[in-house]
Amino acid sequence: MAHYAHIIGWGMAVPHRVVTNHELAQFVETSDEWIVTRTGIRERRIAGPYESTATLSIAASEEALAVAGISPRDVDLILVATVTPEHLFPSTACLVQDALGATKAGAFDLLAGCSGFIYALHIAAAAIRSGMHQVALVIGAETLSRIVNWRDRNTCVLFGDGAGAVVLKGSDMPGGILASMIRADGSGAELLIIPAGGSRFPISESAVRDGCHFIRMNGREVFRFATRVMEKATREVVAQAGLRLEDVDLIIPHQANIRIIETAAKGLGLPMDRFFVNIDRYGNTSAASIPIALCEAVQQRRLNPGDRAVMVAFGAGLTWAAAVVQWGAPQARLRPPWLERLKRITLYLPAQLHSRLMRFWRHLDARLSRILRQQGE
Ligand code: COA
Repeated sequence: MAHYAHIIGWGMAVPHRVVTNHELAQFVETSDEWIVTRTGIRERRIAGPYESTATLSIAASEEALAVAGISPRDVDLILVATVTPEHLFPSTACLVQDALGATKAGAFDLLAGCSGFIYALHIAAAAIRSGMHQVALVIGAETLSRIVNWRDRNTCVLFGDGAGAVVLKGSDMPGGILASMIRADGSGAELLIIPAGGSRFPISESAVRDGCHFIRMNGREVFRFATRVMEKATREVVAQAGLRLEDVDLIIPHQANIRIIETAAKGLGLPMDRFFVNIDRYGNTSAASIPIALCEAVQQRRLNPGDRAVMVAFGAGLTWAAAVVQWGAPQARLRPPWLERLKRITLYLPAQLHSRLMRFWRHLDARLSRILRQQGE
């Protein structure tokens, strides 16, 4: 039985299409100045017709598996945290499992709003530490552009699309996920909700007419809740790990609003340079926000082996969650950008051909990773 769950691979995927605040201002009454000063967002990625929560999840997972040097056949648990699944059922996780060829994995979706990725990490780490699972693929993925009302300036300026994934593996080496916590308060359910489309209010003509199939949010109340729990959850999880705030090298907060992050920093008495921020380029990508930020923190060498990072999020439910990770994984192999572009182009091929090419690519990539790791050992 492994005593620790380590992150040994990571990957992200975002749509190509960048939508700036200026573009939004052309069809909704807003301005770049308003959005930047109130939220910190300058642009976001929006999925094209061939991109979806599953395709982004698959691309991020392929990258994470390649970094880990793990074959999909060795994965025995797949969790997709999302509020924008492909369907109500089957789960997006099952579609990802099939596309990857992870024939030995159980797969399910997890819905915990923007806290979803940390919820999934918490569950996967516990499953690994209990000995029930050996290798887990934990994904946070969203296509929020499909559920926002593009005429509602209160919400449409905030959200974006993307996915991030990590591979978790058991080990006896101390490190990895040092502590994690998940919390919920359903009394705030109405503050952030899609009223229709579930079993309570099935989709109907009148529901669509009233826009009940879109995100509805009480921004001010969510803001108040977020600033309260970000600081509290960070303090709680750091203490649970037996650490002090000074021992934390980097905080990776949910990227919802720069002012929420600044308030948390002030409350914790930490400088802003201890926080990883990329909200300006992606907006709020819900469950994908933390794993995308984690990948970029590694790419930018803000997170290095031996560092301790806190991930902290809040979201619909209401939910909040936090985790402390001791980074111990090898540095990511850098791939030439043209290769990534080539992979993206295959998305436009017929599904069967795309899937075959991807299988071939994964096979090559896993082999190459294994050879490189053996050389490094
Ligand atoms: N462009 C221009 N004006 C806008 C606007 C936009 N995109 N969106 C709202 N406004 C207007 C409002 O209509 C309001 O006008 P009024 O005073 O005439 O009624 C005014 O701006 C101020 O609204 P207010 O709600 O006070 O703004 P705010 O400073 O609280 O910022 C949010 C609004 C949504 C950015 C902020 O409340 C927030 O980030 N909340 C948390 C949301 C969140 O994180 N959600 C996801 C959780 S995972």
